[in-house]
Formats: sequence, structure tokens, C-alpha cells
Amino acid sequence: MSFHYNNLRLGTAVSTFDDQFAKAVLEGLSKNPKRLPSWLIYDNRGSEIFTEITQLPGYHPAQCEIEIFHNYKQTITDLLANDNFRLIELGAGDGMKTHILLQHFIQSQLTFEYMPIDISEGAIKDLVDFLESRYAKGTMSVAGLAADYFEGLRTLSSQSDKRNIVFFLGSTIGNMELPLAAKFVRELRELLNEGDYVMIGFDLMKHPKTLYAAYNDSKMVFERFNLHLLSILNVRLGANFSKEHFVQQGHYNPSTHAVESYIFSTQKQVVTIDALRKEFSFEQWEAMQTEHSYKYTQLEIESLAEASGYRIVKHLFDSQHYFVDSIWEVKK
Ligand SMILES: C[S@@+](CC[C@H](N)C(=O)[O-])C[C@H]1O[C@@H](n2cnc3c(N)ncnc32)[C@H](O)[C@@H]1O
Repeated sequence: MSFHYNNLRLGTAVSTFDDQFAKAVLEGLSKNPKRLPSWLIYDNRGSEIFTEITQLPGYHPAQCEIEIFHNYKQTITDLLANDNFRLIELGAGDGMKTHILLQHFIQSQLTFEYMPIDISEGAIKDLVDFLESRYAKGTMSVAGLAADYFEGLRTLSSQSDKRNIVFFLGSTIGNMELPLAAKFVRELRELLNEGDYVMIGFDLMKHPKTLYAAYNDSKMVFERFNLHLLSILNVRLGANFSKEHFVQQGHYNPSTHAVESYIFSTQKQVVTIDALRKEFSFEQWEAMQTEHSYKYTQLEIESLAEASGYRIVKHLFDSQHYFVDSIWEVKK
């Protein structure tokens, strides 16, 4: 079985990515209030800190999804057992939750290709190396792609007539506002074939205090994660943010139905960003939003699926009904 990875972000794609990155920062810092999109945080180090978040006992989205995979690994295996299939994972990160399923598929002698896609090259390389060290003699081939979701998917979608199952886990879909999530699943469907599956992890609305606890850990890992964005801006765009002059806090906002993380400037200050040839001023305690994590109801998930051309196959809940991995089938 083969194990390899490609970086689609090499060559011309790198400058495209750099342009997109700079444009997103300029737009975000020019807004009032300032707001930067969540995807900017995921360089190699950002992915590593996110892995630390998934290991926090109070971060229920990861703990619930692990429970779901342990409880339903046979259900997911049964769904795929009759096919030679391709498992494409969007934003795979360290892939450790998916690993629970991969291990079970291999033990069940399913033959399949696993294709993790992530914008972080370090995450993809580490994941492919890890899987090769464990499963070189199994029934799984692995082809990782360091790429943007759809750039990666477009490359893969023309390559095979096998059934695809696309994973989009960890409530990453929650980083998008509802209309963007709808656009995302519609575009995803366009690239898939009739009968393909998707499995999407949604964090469900629950007691706001539970949400607060999940995003404000005592070890300050969330703070480190969000403030890491400032280091990225310093390195990529020649900014001069001093992390010690910012603090972080997250809370559930009932108007947007999302947990929003903010970085607060602890003093009045001006930051220069060389690559943008601009200065940005911050008032004391001015808040800049750095994360958005939408909390879904079951009804919203079902409407999203049905309005976007999918048939709902199954909802897999954890025991507290905090989280759901929802499996949908593409209708054409
Ligand atoms: C919230 S983390 C989830 C990681 C993992 N799926 C999990 O459940 O633990 C989001 C992941 O998506 C990746 N990502 C973010 N934006 C992306 C994009 N536009 N294209 C590809 N990957 C992206 C990040 O690097 C990160 O690994």
C-alpha cells in the first residue's frame, strides 16, 4: 500500500495563498469592530496548539466526537463495507479522531484510500508519516494533500470512480456563518457524485455556561492559540504586534448563535504592518474577533442538508447530545 503527500501550495499557489492571506488581514483590520477569520491561525504551530485544545478534558467538541467514533465505528464500517471507497478528510489536522475509524476499517479488512487535506503542510506530513509507521502492511493507502479544501477536492474529484465519503469533523463548519456554511456544502455537493457520502461534525447549542467553560480553559491554551495569530502576522506580514499587550476571552453571543473569541488590547497602541504599508490603532480594551464557532440546532442541520441537495442518512450523537456527526448522501 502506498503512503505519500503532495503540497499543492507550492509554486504559483503560494503567492495566491499569500495574497489571500494579506487581503483577509487588511479587510479584517479595516473593519469596525476589527475581525479576522479563523482560518488565518492554522500554520504548523497553530495546528499543534489546536491539537493541545482537543486534548483538554473540558473541550467537549473533541471529547464528544471521540465518544461517537468509539460507539459508532461499526455503524460507519457497515455503511462502507460493500465498496472500495475513498475517504477524503477536509481540514484533517492531526487526524487522531479519524484514526479510531481508520484502525477499525483496517481490522475489518476494508480496502480504501484515505486522503487527508489540510492547509497546514506540517499537519499533513506528520499524519502521513504516522499512518505509514503504523499501517504500511494494511488495507489502506494514504495520499495526503497540503491544500485549501476545494483546491484539494477539485484535484481529487476527477481522479476516480470509487464511492467517496468526505469527513468534515471537529465542528470546523461552525467557523463559518450559516450562509457561508450553506454555500460550502452546496459547493461540496457539486464536486461529488450521486451516492457519495459526507459526514459533518456539528457542535449543538447547549447551556451557555458549558460553552463558556469549553472555550476559556484554566491552562490558557485557548489564549495561546488566539494570540498565536499575532505571531503569524508578525512573521508573514512584517507586523510588530507585542503579544504581552493583548489578552483573550471567548463567550457565547445569542445574537449570532456562536461562541466568539476576542483578543483585547490592554492599552492604547499602534501596530505597523510592513507588507500592507499600513498602521492600525487599537484603543485600550478594544476587542478584535479572532474566532467564530456557530452552535447548531438539529433542525438547522436538517434544513441545511435538505436545502443543499443531500439526503440525511444518520445522526450519530454522543451520550449527552452535545455534538452530532451527521451523515448525508449526495442526491443528484
Ligand atoms: C478546527 S480544526 C479541526 C481539525 C480536525 N479535523 C479535528 O477535528 O480535530 C480545523 C482544521 O482545518 C484546517 N483548515 C482551516 N482552513 C482550511 C482551508 N481553507 N483549507 C484546508 N484546511 C483548512 C486547519 O489547518 C485545521 O487543521
